[in-house]
Amino acid sequence: MLSRYPKQMERYSPHLSLAHAYWKNHLRPGDTAIDATCGNGHDMLVLAQILLEDPSSLLIGLDIQSAALANTSSLLERSIPASHMARVLLQRHSHADLAQIPLPNPVRLIVYNLGYLPGADKKITTQTETTLSSLKIAASLLAQDGALSITCYPGHEEGAREETAILDWAKQLAPNRWQICHHCWINRKASPTFFWIRSIDETHESSSMKDGKERKVF
Ligand SMILES: C[S@@+](CC[C@H](N)C(=O)[O-])C[C@H]1O[C@@H](n2cnc3c(N)ncnc32)[C@H](O)[C@@H]1O
Repeated sequence: MLSRYPKQMERYSPHLSLAHAYWKNHLRPGDTAIDATCGNGHDMLVLAQILLEDPSSLLIGLDIQSAALANTSSLLERSIPASHMARVLLQRHSHADLAQIPLPNPVRLIVYNLGYLPGADKKITTQTETTLSSLKIAASLLAQDGALSITCYPGHEEGAREETAILDWAKQLAPNRWQICHHCWINRKASPTFFWIRSIDETHESSSMKDGKERKVF
C-alpha cells in the first residue's frame, strides 16, 4: 500500500495527495524519476513505493541540505526493502545543477515540492531564479511523455514570487508540445497550488490520431 502523509497533514495538504495521484497514474514499471527537493523524504517514499518494485527503475533525490538527505535516507531505510534501496541515489546538489547528474535513462518524472524544509531554517528556501533555471533544464531532460510536478507555497514571500514566475513561464510553453494544468484551492487564501506539466509524446500522438483514439490527459 502507498504510504500516506499523517492524517492531520493530509487534511491540510490536498495538493500533495493530488500530486501523488498524478504520479501514480503517470509512472510505469522501469521508469526513472527525480525528486529535485527531497526534504524529509515523504515524497521520495511515495515515489519509491510506486517505482522500485521493478529492477530497472531508478529514483534520484536531490537537496542542498545534508540534514534533508539524512532524513530522507533514514525514512527510506526504515520503510523499503534493501534491494529497493539499491535503486535510490541521494545527492547533495542544487537542482540548478540537474544537467550535471549522470542519467542512465530518460527521465519520466521530475518532482519539485518547493519552499523550505519543514522544522528547519525557513530562510533556506527554494529561490525563484534557481527554480526557474532548473525547470528549464528539467523540461529539456524529460523523456517523450515525461512530466514535471511542482507544488508551490504562495503563503510566504519568496513562494509567491516563485509561483508567479512559474505561471508566467508555463503559460508561454508551446501548446502542441506541452499539456499544462494548474490546480488551486480557490476558497483558501494563498493556499499551496500544484502544476502538472506533461510533454506530449509525438509518436503516441500521431499513431493514436490515426487510430481515432483520444489521448488520456490525467
Ligand atoms: C518543502 S521541502 C521538500 C519536501 C519534501 N519533498 C518531502 O517530501 O519531505 C523543500 C526542500 O527544498 C530544498 N531546496 C531548497 N533549494 C534547493 C535547491 N536549489 N536544490 C535542491 N533542493 C533545494 C530545501 O532544502 C528543502 O529541503
